[in-house]
Amino acid sequence: MQKLAIVTGITGQDGSYLAQYLLLKGYKVYAGVRRISMPLSSNSNLKNFINHPNLTLINMDFLDSGSIKSFVETVGKYCNGYLKLMDNYIEVYNLAAQSHVGESFKIPAITHQVNAIGVITLLESLRHVFNNRFRFYQASTSELYGNAATVDKKILNEESEFKPISPYAISKLSAFLTVKNFREAHGIYAVNGILFNHESPRRGIEFVTRKITNGLAQYATGQNEGPIQLGNIKAKRDWGDARDYIKAMYMMLQLSDQNKVKDYVVATGETYSVKDFCDLAFKKIGVTLKWFGEGIHEVALNNDDEVVIEISSKFYRPSDVEYLLGDSSLIQTDLNWKRKNSFKTLVFDMVEHDIELCKGKS
Ligand code: NAP
Ligand code: GDD
Repeated sequence: MQKLAIVTGITGQDGSYLAQYLLLKGYKVYAGVRRISMPLSSNSNLKNFINHPNLTLINMDFLDSGSIKSFVETVGKYCNGYLKLMDNYIEVYNLAAQSHVGESFKIPAITHQVNAIGVITLLESLRHVFNNRFRFYQASTSELYGNAATVDKKILNEESEFKPISPYAISKLSAFLTVKNFREAHGIYAVNGILFNHESPRRGIEFVTRKITNGLAQYATGQNEGPIQLGNIKAKRDWGDARDYIKAMYMMLQLSDQNKVKDYVVATGETYSVKDFCDLAFKKIGVTLKWFGEGIHEVALNNDDEVVIEISSKFYRPSDVEYLLGDSSLIQTDLNWKRKNSFKTLVFDMVEHDIELCKGKS
């Protein structure tokens, strides 16, 4: 029997890979998308599968509770027959979010409305339309830990303390607790994936990894208008590959025994600084960066001693998570999840992709 799924945030990095993965597995996918004034462009993350016969896009905005409810009701009508059969359920992957941590300091209320209140409205609507006949994945995050590991450089797992330090992390902690409460109070199959940073060629251009590979590609193809400007380059992240991580999301909703449902950390167990990322990315194009200066005056020079990276105070945050390193042994043991792509493969892939993209533009 064909399986059904709802994916929110399909136009984003994770949503696009996950929807594609589910379609390949033969799922029917119902996806919520925000209305935009221009049609989704040929460059969008959906370009390879937007016309797939099993994909239905439905307008929905997390800032409007009525639109969340009517989205769920519309999907409910499509699924009516399917859910009449005992034991059938729909899988719901909630990936939509105002996901930029730095931006959340500028728009904290919108961030909370989308990331926290939106999740309550979505879960209530699902309960109303589907009763308990749905399984729910919530895109939770390593940002919940804040700087809990920064001082003693410890590895974070499902038992570690949450110490959120941004409006984004606070909103995501609220959603985390909501999901746990729906699981415990209402007996819903609902799970939080506590995912550490994950990247890909489909990463949004404002996140630091893609900003670096995109800036580097412009430099490599002679299209740059100046050095790449970055903020806190000492920050360390546990960076994985989004294409590995969406498989973990899928696995979390496939348990045969609902009593075994629990929240999982997904991470690589390796951590690198933003500076390390820059070094490796430039190495891919034969440039060995030379770093000089401190703090706001730090710069990176290329092989010809030209400045290719500089620091701008514009990209510092009022408070920042300095160190993240995750322990994913629980999901490896319980669900047999493993990552395939290394940090180096990921960085090189993003660089190659962005150079190709820039060549196409020139
Ligand atoms: P992303 O690329 O920024 O995608 C976010 C998605 O949410 C987009 O499809 C966006 O739609 C949608 N969205 C934003 N505001 C919305 C609204 N008001 N109504 C409806 N949809 C809205 O994020 P991602 O990297 O794929 O991450 C997916 C999820 O995982 C997010 O919840 C993020 O917080 C979480 N997460 C990500 C990471 C990571 O490292 N990538 C790690 C941990 C957790 P538009 O295209 O219309 O903007
Ligand atoms: N975005 C950005 N832009 N970050 C910069 C820059 C810059 O120019 N320069 C330095 N950084 C630093 C940030 O201060 C942060 O310490 C680090 O690079 C990573 O920033 P982002 O790539 O924006 O990711 P993030 O770690 O803040 O958040 C991402 O990962 C979370 C999981 O830990 C997002 O995907 C979140 O949605 C996700 O929950």
